[in-house]
Amino acid sequence: MAGPVSILVTRKLPAAALAILRDAGAVEVAAAPLDAEALRLHVRGRAALVCLLTDRIDTALLDAAGPGLRIVANVAVGVDNIDIPAARERGIVVTNTPDVLTNAVAEFTWGLILAVTRRLTEADRCIRRGEWAGWSPDLLNGTELAGKRLGIVGAGRIGRAVAARAPAFGMDVVFTRRGTASEIDGRPALSLDEVLVTSDVVSVHAPLTPETRHLIDRHALGRMKSTAYLINTARGPVVDEEALVVALEAGVLAGAALDVFEREPAIHPGLLRLENVVLAPHLGSSTRETRTAMAELAARNVVRVLRGQRPLTPVE
Ligand code: GLV
Repeated sequence: MAGPVSILVTRKLPAAALAILRDAGAVEVAAAPLDAEALRLHVRGRAALVCLLTDRIDTALLDAAGPGLRIVANVAVGVDNIDIPAARERGIVVTNTPDVLTNAVAEFTWGLILAVTRRLTEADRCIRRGEWAGWSPDLLNGTELAGKRLGIVGAGRIGRAVAARAPAFGMDVVFTRRGTASEIDGRPALSLDEVLVTSDVVSVHAPLTPETRHLIDRHALGRMKSTAYLINTARGPVVDEEALVVALEAGVLAGAALDVFEREPAIHPGLLRLENVVLAPHLGSSTRETRTAMAELAARNVVRVLRGQRPLTPVE
């Protein structure tokens, strides 16, 4: 009789998620992060792979797995790390973790907006360096949000959740257009150029695809107001990082707050030098509640597919 199906989990996940997986098969959790070669070795003969956005799931990996692989469950909403057409050709289901992280990422985006416009990381550095000599009327003056415009690039779940919180700060919202609709959630849907030209804060929420790689390039940055701020909690390569550094150095825009980078975990040295840039190590979904919910959702998708059922959140 055949033994239990084998499930590989590429990184330690919350116990609740592993317990769900153990109901469906024999689970191996990688003891340490696996590089591409190690992942190819470990995936051989598995029926399910639970992976992270840092794992590259390409044709070499899918071929190394062999014909028994039925599902790749990404513990992330973004799936730019997975060759979806290659998985589809091989009949492998791909799932992601939408919805459960929307609030966490939207809240974090507002944290970044406030941090960069009110210069919170500069303020923290000022105190830690012992540079604060006392209250002063012009110390680290920031930019008020009330009455300003928030431009959302990418009107998906997260972009819309960020927009939904804007009235609390008295901000007016515009979205980049999706299709032909002139409004999204009752707010204007404009061309990317109109969003860039008219917004005081531009927040990027587009997935990384061949079409969105370097969507915010030198030209796009040049269209922003010199007083405006760029926020990116989506994927690093949606913004041309080199062009952003040049633009910030030249005062083309007022500042940036970035949670994602082109070559994570490497950071462009120019960004490290700039005081008006807030940097975070890809933390958008990083609350205990959300990371647990993401892992549990990935695990449920695996269980369903291994039982021959439709997954909860397939990538189609
Ligand atoms: C995080 O970046 C995700 O895609 O879930």
